[in-house]
Amino acid sequence: MDRTLLERYDRRVPRYTSYPTAPHFHAGVNAEVYERWLGEMAPDAPLSLYFHVPFCHEMCWYCGCYTKIVRRYEPIGDYAATMTAEVSLIGGLMGARPPITHIHWGGGTPTILSAEDIERLIGEVRESFNVAPDAEIAVEMDPRTMTEDRVKALARAGVNRASLGVQDFNEHVQKAINRVQPFEVSAQVVRWLRESGITAINFDLMYGLPYQTVDDVHRSVELAASLRPDRLAAFGYAHVPWMKTHQKLIPDEALPDAWERFEQAEAIAQGLVDRGYRRIGLDHFALESDDMTEALDQGRLHRNFQGYTTDEASSLIGFGASSIGALPQGYIQNAQPLRGWGDAIRAGRPPIVKGITLSDEDRLRRGVIEKLMCDLKVDLAEETARYGKTAEHFHGEIAMMEPMVADGIAVVDGSVVGITELGRPLMRTVCALFDTYLDSGVGRHSQAV
Ligand SMILES: C[S@@+](CC[C@H](N)C(=O)[O-])C[C@H]1O[C@@H](n2cnc3c(N)ncnc32)[C@H](O)[C@@H]1O
Repeated sequence: MDRTLLERYDRRVPRYTSYPTAPHFHAGVNAEVYERWLGEMAPDAPLSLYFHVPFCHEMCWYCGCYTKIVRRYEPIGDYAATMTAEVSLIGGLMGARPPITHIHWGGGTPTILSAEDIERLIGEVRESFNVAPDAEIAVEMDPRTMTEDRVKALARAGVNRASLGVQDFNEHVQKAINRVQPFEVSAQVVRWLRESGITAINFDLMYGLPYQTVDDVHRSVELAASLRPDRLAAFGYAHVPWMKTHQKLIPDEALPDAWERFEQAEAIAQGLVDRGYRRIGLDHFALESDDMTEALDQGRLHRNFQGYTTDEASSLIGFGASSIGALPQGYIQNAQPLRGWGDAIRAGRPPIVKGITLSDEDRLRRGVIEKLMCDLKVDLAEETARYGKTAEHFHGEIAMMEPMVADGIAVVDGSVVGITELGRPLMRTVCALFDTYLDSGVGRHSQAV
């Protein structure tokens, strides 16, 4: 990669955790539509659940997620009670009880919930849904707020995967993002998790952070890998201060430029590959022994709102304010201000405010984009055949790929189009060729690298 190539393709494009992407959701898909879709649920197609807990004790200045800073437990306890009611409400609207294979708790900081609230909520989930005995139950956690007791409570509730926010191990970077987290804090939580039987461990790292250098990321990778998590994600800091005003606390001039971001991302990737991790998709890494590596090798890797996943369920139900669900008919998103979300549930109505119904054309393009993001290649003949079309359907996109092929970031071989290793960091730009919504000017995204 050279600077010219990076400048040519490092565009502001979506991360494609869904297609169509969230800025295209609209109010036409409402509670009534969602109730109908839930009623049509197939009895045997596996289902996943996502729980959003939008609270943290302190604001990390880079944070791009929907969360609120709270000191008292009262609003958090109220939220847990409302979410318990939401679980029972949605469970009652389902036309069938398909097996639940994956449950993900995200945030904010889900581990801010008390042990009792977590156990009560998971109890209600088991009551209202048919949780498979071997379901994966994953929880995002902030190591700074974990205690041994909390870890044990999670293990008792059946949690079997933990995702730890690490970001960077260098104090000067940690200070600049308002997240001081000494190495020993993360190391201690990893020990507690393993001792409690939660042995599947992910770390989140970030690059492109204020004052962060390539040397800093080398050190972070070395320390992170020394704890041997099974998986790591390395996210490029998405600086969107026009949407997240607290990000204005990070001075623009402290941020690495596009080329430095690229060098940092590559340093993380090389450092992890050198230490036995496989590179997966845009930003994930896993040990050879991890089932994500196996899913990649077998063409079963998927992409959802949490990033890359081994989850093969065709439906996802989201609980909590702002959470997004995906059903075969389309996407749905819950209300975001806490009040609106809670009022709907108390009125006995699904708290949906927007969504999008998928057309076959959307499904086809979603499949193509997902394959490119996961496998770095897709056979357009195979994908189009599912919808009674031929690869010719994409002749315009293939023509637009020509400069990318000439630049060595993409390849076209008959009906198979792919992204090269050189093009991997720019895969979002290649996928954007297949996105028919992009030119509508809705939404403003972060840089590709
Ligand atoms: C929703 S956070 C939850 C983690 C948990 N609250 C914690 O403190 O560790 C999940 C991950 O999203 C990533 N993230 C958050 N804001 C981001 C941003 N603006 N750009 C890129 N990644 C971001 C971070 O790596 C973070 O660990």
